[in-house]
Amino acid sequence: MKVLVFDSEIEASKKAYDILKENITENSTLGLATGSTPLNLYKCMIEDCKNGNISFKNIKTFNLDEYVNLEYTHPQSYHYFMNDNLFDHIDIDKNNTFLPDAIAETDEELNNLCSKYNDMLNNNTIDVQILGIGTNGHIGFNEPGTSFDSTVSVVDLTESTIKDNSRFFENNLDKVPKRAISMGLKNIMAAKTIILLAFGEHKKEAIDHLINGNITEDWPCTILQNHPNVYVVIDKAAEPTK
Ligand code: PGA
Repeated sequence: MKVLVFDSEIEASKKAYDILKENITENSTLGLATGSTPLNLYKCMIEDCKNGNISFKNIKTFNLDEYVNLEYTHPQSYHYFMNDNLFDHIDIDKNNTFLPDAIAETDEELNNLCSKYNDMLNNNTIDVQILGIGTNGHIGFNEPGTSFDSTVSVVDLTESTIKDNSRFFENNLDKVPKRAISMGLKNIMAAKTIILLAFGEHKKEAIDHLINGNITEDWPCTILQNHPNVYVVIDKAAEPTK
């Protein structure tokens, strides 16, 4: 695990973009994340594409997760987020962008959607996976206690995640979806290279576990200690106290 610490989120995101570029070709497959963390990285991708330095025309993407039964026209759905913050501004073919389909009437339908997404992931190799991290150490929506063998599944969000994400839902806990479909930890570990980003003091404890903690399902991020090619790119505020 390579840990890179920067003075600011912007500098860290620029470095993350350099690492991303070093590890992809013009027809690579990317694993993408939502939330506030990757926004500056996505801005770097957009700027570089607009300047004609890179094309994403033949790039394929798979996102980590999507809320259950939040319409894709909802500004907080991850389908909407990805179009709004990245796909609408680069030359990617949207037919090559995939997120879990998570609209269903029954649990059986949801489970079928999970199997479908899992099959797609098994048929593709993610060259670079971008990750944020939850204050509770989740990656994707793999909350504490998730099996290290997990594949795509329907997950119940923990209280701490619902609270963390309520800022996107008018600070109203009742408005935050309580379930999501998420790539599992096993899917994430299958990526060739992983770039995990974290900014701010509130991420310090999770980063401490990620880098220095015992490998345990109580802190899902610690599974990354078993991955051969992980970059942890953080700002000073998220750096664990030595
Ligand atoms: P954030 O979320 O980027 O909005 O902080 C990260 C995460 O929960 O994985």
